[in-house]
Amino acid sequence: MSFYKLTDEQLMIQSMVREFSRKVVATTAAERDQTKEFPAENLKQMGELGLMGMMVPVEYGGEGADTVSYVLALSEIAYSCASTAVVMSVHNSIVCESIVKFGNDAQKKKYLPRLTDAEIIGAFALTEPHAGSDPVSQSTTAVREGDHYILNGTKRFITTGKNCGMVIVTAKTDEEARHKGISAFLVDSGSPGLTVGHIEDKMGLRASDTTDLIFDNCKVPAENILGKEGDGFKIAMTGLDGGRIGIAAQSVGVAQAALDAAVKYTKKRDQFGQKVSKYQGIRWAVAEMATEIEAARQLMFSAAAMKDRGDRYTMQASMAKLFASEMVNRITGRCLQLHGGYGFTKDYPVERFYRDARVFTIYEGTSEIQKIVISNNIFKDKRKP
Ligand code: CAA
Repeated sequence: MSFYKLTDEQLMIQSMVREFSRKVVATTAAERDQTKEFPAENLKQMGELGLMGMMVPVEYGGEGADTVSYVLALSEIAYSCASTAVVMSVHNSIVCESIVKFGNDAQKKKYLPRLTDAEIIGAFALTEPHAGSDPVSQSTTAVREGDHYILNGTKRFITTGKNCGMVIVTAKTDEEARHKGISAFLVDSGSPGLTVGHIEDKMGLRASDTTDLIFDNCKVPAENILGKEGDGFKIAMTGLDGGRIGIAAQSVGVAQAALDAAVKYTKKRDQFGQKVSKYQGIRWAVAEMATEIEAARQLMFSAAAMKDRGDRYTMQASMAKLFASEMVNRITGRCLQLHGGYGFTKDYPVERFYRDARVFTIYEGTSEIQKIVISNNIFKDKRKP
C-alpha cells in the first residue's frame, strides 16, 4: 500500500522479490550474522533473478528496470537481511550504474555481463584512512607509465573488499588539481599489487565484509580508466547520489521488518491481564512508527522517480537518505523497547535490526554530509563543511 502509484510491473517485481527474500534470504540471516559468512549463494540466486544488474540495459545483460523497481527490490532484501542488501546496493547503485553511465562500450561489454550474472560482485573504493567525509583530500595516486597506471595507496571501509571480483577505485592523477585531479579506475581483484588488508569486525552488517584495500605498485591497464583523467570525483559523487537512494531503501526495509516484528510480539505478549498490543501507549507508538516509515518510503520513491525522469535528484537523494536512515535508527530502538527484555536477546531478530541500522546514518555520507548537500542546494551557493 502506498500513495505512490506503482505500475503492474513494479508490483510484480516487488512481490517476486518479497517471496524470494522471505523464503530464502531470511532463513539464514540470523546465522550469517553470527558466522559472518558472506551471502554468496543468495547473491548467485539474485543474479539469476535479475537483481544484480537491475538498471543495466538489457543489451549488457541487465534487466533495464527503473529505479523505483530497484528500490522496491532492495527494500525487500533489506527486510530479511541487511548484510545481503548492502552488497546488492553498492553493486547495483554505484558499481553497475557508474559503468553504465561513464564506461565505454568495451568496458561495458567486459564487466557488465559478469556483474549482472553475479559471477563477480563489484566494490567501490573512495574512502581512505584520513579521507572519509572529505574524499578530495585522498592520497592514493595513479601515475601513468606507458600503457599502464601504477596505483599506490590504501582504501578503507570498502564494502565487499574481500569478496569482490572488481573494484572501482579513485586515485589522484594530478596532485595539484584538487577534485579535478582525481580519476577512477576499474581494477580486477587479484591484480598484482592489490591486496586485501584489515577486515573490520563490526557491530552490524556482519555478513558483509568491510576491508582495507592496499594498492602497492598495482599495475592497471590504461584502458581501465573510467571516463577521462580528472573525472573520478564527479563519477564518485554521481554514484553516491544513486547509492544514497539505495540506503534509504535499505532503511525502509529494515524499519518495516522491525515494526512487523514488534506488532507480532505485542499481539502475543500478555501483561497485566491483556495483550500488550491493547494498550494505547503501544498502539500510538506503532501508529507513529508506521507514519514515519511511510514518510521515508515516499521520499525514497520521490528521489527514485526523479532519477527515472532524468531530473537532477542530488538533493532529494540526500533528503531520502537523511530522513530514512535517522528514522530507522529511531524505529529499531523503539521496536526493541516494545519487546522488553526479550528485545535484548538473540531469540528475536530486533536486536540484529538495531545493530544493522546503526551504520545507515554514517556510510555513503553521514547525516551531517547530507545536511551540507541539502543546504548547499537550497542556498544555491556553497558553504564549506
Ligand atoms: N553529482 C555530480 N557532480 C557533483 C556532485 C554530484 N552530486 N556533487 C559535487 N559535484 C561536483 C561539483 O559540481 C564540483 O565540480 P565543478 O568544480 O566542475 O563544478 C565538484 O564535484 C566539487 O564539488 P564540491 O566543491 O561541492 O565538493 P566538496 O569537496 O566541497 O565536497 C561533499 C562535497 C558533498 C561534502 C562531498 O565531498 C561528499 O559527498 N562527501 C561525502 C563522501 C561520502 O559519501 N563518502 C562515503 C564513501 S562510500 C561508502 O560509504 C562505502 C561503501 O561501500 C558503502
